[in-house]
Amino acid sequence: MATGTTNPFSAATIPAVGVQIEGLSKSFGNLEVLRDVSFNVEPGEIFVLMGPSGSGKSVLLKHIVGLELPSAGRVLVDGLDASSEDTREQVRMAMVFQAGALFNSLSVYDNLALYLREHRVANEAGIRDKVMRALQILSLDNAAQKFPSELSGGMRKRVAISRALVMEPQLMLYDEPTSELDPVMGATIAEIIATLKEEYHVTSIVVSHDRDLTLAIGERVGILMGGKLLFLGTAAELRSPKDPKIADFLSPKIDLKNPRFKQLET
Ligand SMILES: Nc1ncnc2c1ncn2[C@@H]1O[C@H](COP(=O)(O)OP(=O)(O)O)[C@@H](O)[C@H]1O
Ligand SMILES: [Mg+2]
Repeated sequence: MATGTTNPFSAATIPAVGVQIEGLSKSFGNLEVLRDVSFNVEPGEIFVLMGPSGSGKSVLLKHIVGLELPSAGRVLVDGLDASSEDTREQVRMAMVFQAGALFNSLSVYDNLALYLREHRVANEAGIRDKVMRALQILSLDNAAQKFPSELSGGMRKRVAISRALVMEPQLMLYDEPTSELDPVMGATIAEIIATLKEEYHVTSIVVSHDRDLTLAIGERVGILMGGKLLFLGTAAELRSPKDPKIADFLSPKIDLKNPRFKQLET
């Protein structure tokens, strides 16, 4: 492997990996969260996983990084079983958690350096190069000495993404990267995801409700509903969905004469 201090994110050193979800089912007690879900994510593509709240999107992501184990079926990353420790040693995966999961007591710099120090990836000078490079990619160089509490929501998301980047990932998983952000900041994050994919060939799986993001940067899209994959296709196909459930999910009509909340089950 290249030493990487000059360009730790060189595309040449980061071969993209694919993901296969094969007949994945997951239950927690009596709650069936995922039911026989199958799809592939091709190396280097941006795959967007959509679905209503509680449809199992985060649970599915956790299977890819080995934080959950399948009740049935399997998940392969680069052809290796995602539930095995060895896979996480062989494939560099990074997850950007919904809430960012930054350490509030650590500066931005130390949040990024933490993983590199723990894994003794380099000496302090090497770590500094990698951290500053990851911050520069996201235009965060001036935020290195700040603490998470001093940052706006959009900056915290960018820090969470740059912290994932220091791992030089082959696979990036983003859990609702634009939720709680204003539309302009949401567009900025979408641009970042697309840029990282273009420049570093990172396979990207994005869990999102954000229709604009999906149509702008998604190459293929899956929609989970009730634990099943109800749609699998290109983002272009989503512009005119045939299934009324999918159409209603993407562009719900507000109907004051027949409001939804009066039809909800208690
Ligand atoms: N560790 C767990 N134990 C029990 N239930 C869980 C666990 N994780 C998730 N769930 C349940 O699984 C369902 C799907 O959750 P999740 O994947 O977080 O949904 P979302 O699509 O909003 O990300 C929810 O009903 C949630 O309460
Ligand atoms: Mg979730």
